[in-house]
Amino acid sequence: MIQSEEGLAKVDKATPCRYGAPTVLAVAFDKNNVFVYPGGKRNSGAEDAAIVATHMLLAACNAGVDSCWLNFFDPDELAKELGLPENEEILMLLDLGYAAEGTKPLPPHNSRKELSETVSYVR
Ligand SMILES: Cc1cc2nc3c(=O)[nH]c(=O)nc-3n(C[C@H](O)[C@H](O)[C@H](O)COP(=O)(O)O)c2cc1C
Repeated sequence: MIQSEEGLAKVDKATPCRYGAPTVLAVAFDKNNVFVYPGGKRNSGAEDAAIVATHMLLAACNAGVDSCWLNFFDPDELAKELGLPENEEILMLLDLGYAAEGTKPLPPHNSRKELSETVSYVR
């Protein structure tokens, strides 16, 4: 959790997307402690962290706190800046705060693709 002036300055150096949030969560996973899927091509690290991040986003919303999921930064550089151990990989940043009065979601927020564009039925 990043709240100090010094820490937030490091976030601002890494990304233009803090939007003044007073709290930023850096969600990371331990590269040495992931489940390697059968076949050996992939592991669960990013998915595990994405599940955690999603639940934190939903919990924040439930508590009336606004948030923004960020990936527009170099995760390796930021991990170095924040002094994370080598085995910790940052998946994403979650800005937490309160949106400015009158802020509205972008137009695509409520647009939905046809189901046929996103779902394939296989036999
Ligand atoms: C994987 C991912 C990465 C994102 N990275 C950023 C980012 O770095 N900066 C940003 O402003 N928005 C980013 N966004 C977009 C916002 O988090 C958010 O999804 C977008 O504003 C739409 O929100 P809404 O559906 O509530 O309107 C990202 C979204 C996703 C899904």
